[in-house]
Amino acid sequence: MISMKKHLILTQLAVCAALALSGLSAHAQDVKGSAQAGQGKVWLCTGCHAIPDYRADYPLIYRVPMLGGQNAAYIANSLAAYKKGERKHPTMRSIAASLSDQDMADLGEYYAAQTASSPNNPLK
Ligand code: HEC
Repeated sequence: MISMKKHLILTQLAVCAALALSGLSAHAQDVKGSAQAGQGKVWLCTGCHAIPDYRADYPLIYRVPMLGGQNAAYIANSLAAYKKGERKHPTMRSIAASLSDQDMADLGEYYAAQTASSPNNPLK
C-alpha cells in the first residue's frame, strides 16, 4: 500500500514536471520580432512619429514620442497596452488595435535598431 502511494506521488511529480516543461516551451515560442519585417510596417507610424521636431500641429499642437532607439520590448509592450486599453490615447489605441503580436514585435525591433547614430533615417 505504501509503495502504491509512492507511485501516485511519483506520477504526480511527473505530471507537474511535464506541465512546467510545456509552460517553458510555450514561452520559448513567444513571437520574435524582425527589424527587417518591421521596416515594411512603419509606414503606419511615420506620419506621426517621424515628423520634424516630433510635434504634430493638427488639430492641436501635441508632442509625439520619438521611438527610434527605444527598447524593443518597451515598444511592443506599449502597443499591446494600447490595444488592450490599458493605455488610453485614442489614436494609438485604434492603430494598435490593427496590429498583431508579430507586428508589434517587428515594429519594436525596427525602432530599437534606429539609434542616435542613424539620425537621418526618414523612417525613425
Ligand atoms: C496619428 C498619429 C500617430 C500615429 C499614426 C502613430 N502614433 Fe504612436 N503615438 C502618437 C502619440 C500622440 C503618442 C503619445 C500618446 C500617449 O501619450 O499615450 C504615441 C505613443 C506611442 C508609443 C508610446 C511611446 C512612449 O514612450 O510611451 C508607442 C510605442 C507608439 N506610439 C508606437 C507607434 C507605432 C509603432 C505606430 C505605427 C504602427 C504609431 N505609434 C503610429 C501618435 C501616433
